[in-house]
Amino acid sequence: MSNPSLQGSIQVPGDKSVSHRSIIFGAIAEGDTHVKNFLRSNDCLATLQAFRQMGVSVDEEKGELIVHGVGLNGLTESSADLDMQNSGTSTRLLAGLLAGQDFTSHMVGDASLSKRPMGRVITPLTEMGAELSATEGHLPMTVKGQPLHGINYRLPVASAQVKSAILLAALTAKGETVIEEPLPSRDHSERMLDLFSPESIERTGDKIHIRPGYPLKGQEVTVPSDISSAAFFLVAGAIVPGSRITIESVGMNPTRTGIIKVLEQMGADLTIDSIETAGEPMANLTIQAGPLKPFTITEKDIPALVDEVPILALLAARADGVSTISGAAELRVKESDRLAAIATEFKKLGIQIEEKPDGLIITGSTKPFQVADKELESYGDHRIAMTLKVASLLADQAVHIQDEDCMAVSYPDFTKDLNQLLRK
Ligand code: S3P
Repeated sequence: MSNPSLQGSIQVPGDKSVSHRSIIFGAIAEGDTHVKNFLRSNDCLATLQAFRQMGVSVDEEKGELIVHGVGLNGLTESSADLDMQNSGTSTRLLAGLLAGQDFTSHMVGDASLSKRPMGRVITPLTEMGAELSATEGHLPMTVKGQPLHGINYRLPVASAQVKSAILLAALTAKGETVIEEPLPSRDHSERMLDLFSPESIERTGDKIHIRPGYPLKGQEVTVPSDISSAAFFLVAGAIVPGSRITIESVGMNPTRTGIIKVLEQMGADLTIDSIETAGEPMANLTIQAGPLKPFTITEKDIPALVDEVPILALLAARADGVSTISGAAELRVKESDRLAAIATEFKKLGIQIEEKPDGLIITGSTKPFQVADKELESYGDHRIAMTLKVASLLADQAVHIQDEDCMAVSYPDFTKDLNQLLRK
C-alpha cells in the first residue's frame, strides 16, 4: 500500500466543551446570546434539544446560533425524558443546573452513557440539598428540583464536568459556594460565567467562589476550533512521512494545551502563530512530519490532555523509544474504557503496547504497522474511531473500523476532512 502524505490547511469544527456551555449559559441568561462556530455534533445537539424541551427557543441565522435566554428561573419542566444520548458533559452539567429548579427532570442516555459514573455529581449536589435518584449511580436519573444551599467542596478527582455541575447548581443556591480542584481542569465554565455575569464568580489561587443572586446577560460567543479535534491532524501531520499541514484558529486555552507540550517534548516540528482574541485564546498551528523522541506523561499532565490520550498513544507508537502514560485511570470511565480499547486495538495493528491499571507503555517504531487482525473495533467511542482512522494511514494493509459513524459525536465530517488533506 502506498502511503499518501497530508498537505494543506484545515479548520476543524468548533470546540465541544465551549459549544455545550454556550447553550447552557445562553439559556439561563437574560436576552439573546449569539454563538458563532457552534459545533453541530450529536453531543452538542443533545444539549440543544434538552433546552428546547425546557422552553428555550434557539434560532439559526447565517450559520450563527441565537439562544433566546429565559433567565435562571425561566426554564420549564419537559414533558418528555431528556435524552442525553452519548454525552457525559450534557448529563453532568444539566444535573447541576436542574438540581435547583422548581420542577422534576428525567435524564436518559445510550448504552455507553448509562454505564458512566454519576455518583461524582450526585455526592456534591446532594450535599447542596439536591434530590437526585439514579440506579447504582447510573442513568436513568431523576432530578427533583429543590432549594439548594452553598457548600465548600474539594473535588476528589480533577473533572471539569463535576466542577461545572457544582458551579451551575451554585447559581441557584442560597449563599456562596467554594470549589477546589486537586489539579486544574478545563476552565471554560468559569470563563463563560465571568463573561455572562462577572459579579457571580471570583477566582483566588486554586479556589473558585460562586456568588448567586446576580443575573446573567446574553453575550456574543465565538467558539474556537476544538484542540481535541485538531489533535488528530496534529498527530497525523507529525507521523505520516512527508506531511506538512496548518490547522487554523485552534483554541489554545492553557487548560487544554497538554498535547502541544507533549509535541514540544518530543521535538516535533510545530509552529504556533497566535491570534489576538477577546475571549478564548486561539492560534494557527503548522506541523511537519519528522523524527520524534518518546514522551513521559504522568498524573499531573492528564487534565490538560485527558481527551487526547488515545491519539497520543498513536504518536508514541511512532517515536524512537519507549513512552509511558500513567495516572490516567479516568480514561477507564470515558465513552469507553479507553486504556483497554487502545491496548487491544493497537495490538491488532502490531504495535508494541502494554496496558497498566492507570496507563500505557508504548514502544515506538517507524516501520509500517504490521496488521495482525484487520477487523478493528471502535467500541462506539468517537475518539477511538478517529485514532484508528489515523493509524490506518500507516498500516501495511487496509483495515476495517467497526461502527465508524460514532465519530459524529464530536466530528461528523472527520473522514471527509482527512481525505481532503491526503495527497498521493
Ligand atoms: C469535559 C470534561 C472532561 C472531558 C470531556 C469534556 C467538559 O471530562 O473528558 O470530553 O466539557 O467539561 P471530565 O470532567 O470527566 O474529566
